[in-house]
Amino acid sequence: MHVPVVIVGAGPSGSLLAWILRQRGIENVVLEARSREYVEGRIRAGVMEQNAVDLMIRAGVGDRLQKECMKHAGVIVGINNQHHFIDFEKLIGIGVTVYGQSEVTKDILAALDKAGHDVVYEAPVQTIENHNGDRAKVTYIQDGIEKEISADFVVGADGYHGPCRKSIPADALKTHEKTYPLGWLGVMVKAAPSANVALFAHHDRGFALLSMRSPEISRLYLQCAADENLDEWSDERVWEELDTRMGTSGWTLERGEIFQKDVTPLRSFFCESMQYGRMFLAGDAAHIVPPTGAKGLNSAFADISVLSAGLIQHFTKDDSSILDSYSGIAVERNIQTQRFSWSNTSKYHVFPGTNSFDRRMQRAELEYLVRDETAQISYAKQHTGLPFAHWPEL
Ligand code: APR
Ligand code: PHB
Repeated sequence: MHVPVVIVGAGPSGSLLAWILRQRGIENVVLEARSREYVEGRIRAGVMEQNAVDLMIRAGVGDRLQKECMKHAGVIVGINNQHHFIDFEKLIGIGVTVYGQSEVTKDILAALDKAGHDVVYEAPVQTIENHNGDRAKVTYIQDGIEKEISADFVVGADGYHGPCRKSIPADALKTHEKTYPLGWLGVMVKAAPSANVALFAHHDRGFALLSMRSPEISRLYLQCAADENLDEWSDERVWEELDTRMGTSGWTLERGEIFQKDVTPLRSFFCESMQYGRMFLAGDAAHIVPPTGAKGLNSAFADISVLSAGLIQHFTKDDSSILDSYSGIAVERNIQTQRFSWSNTSKYHVFPGTNSFDRRMQRAELEYLVRDETAQISYAKQHTGLPFAHWPEL
């Protein structure tokens, strides 16, 4: 069997690309290792840049998003129990949108399902070969049987652990990585959010974040060790620590039933190239950011905007100029997103082993931010996101 495009992975990157290409009549098959329920159930960040929202709307999968999302004008910065609101809308005219990533995935997979699109679940890809030949070859397992499919292009939207990036010879792949001595202990809570925007709190005991998923569900995080043992965190201990790190006089953190607890280690990773012959990488397959600033999904959608524009141009106009520039454009944008995620992580967290001078200077950076309008404009621009270099014609 041969198709123009094989997409490996049905996460937000792969599913959105499949849907956009379908809209323009470009045949593609999605191969996903896990079940649909598993893919939809993964809980991740929930903050979208305006460009990511616009891409969903333009692609025709933004209706529920527009109905159910929460618009945030800016963020609150907490510095040792003092709250300061930074109003992005007032500073630069745009804010951010809160809509859970699992909802994004559900909406796109539902659209693909309704259209009868070829998404093969529980079909783990085994190998990608012949990247530099006239057709790439992909093998996968379905119902215990190994199958093969060939394609003009393969898109590796298979996340950090997927086989696509690993199929690139080591001497053709340059990567950069940083592991932080930190994790985030996250809780999902049945309680109305205690603020109308996210609260990023720096405290001598560590970072804490108040976010939300809906008017009834709060999402809260505490800086912890990368290998923190959840058994040591009773609900009461979580609430006390959140109160200590983010509380301020005259403000109450609403409590409610904690229905999920998780620990995520913090990591930065990226590839210097996102193309190898007939294979393109997109999303987490090519880059991972620490969650401070919620750039994971947004970077993935920036990749998909350019890649879909390139593939559409290639197949409908016989012009490969965007496709040929995809890797350079995507890597360049991603490096700036890496820089923001790394610097935002460095701003708020307490790093083990830092001396009192470094700690005080770190706090001074935040004090400068909440006092200086020029610093706030720069922060607002980075939080709300860099432009997408190309948009698919839809
Ligand atoms: N064969 C087929 N599918 C695979 C394989 C394989 N061998 N290996 C992994 N996959 C699938 C995974 O099961 C997953 O559903 O690829 C998909 C990758 O999805 P994500 O990890 O969600 O990556 P991506 O779509 O790029 O989304 C980026 O995810 O981690 C967050 O913060 C990140 O929000 C960002 C988003
Ligand atoms: C979230 O809602 O999960 C979230 C919000 C903001 C971040 C990171 C995560 O910076």
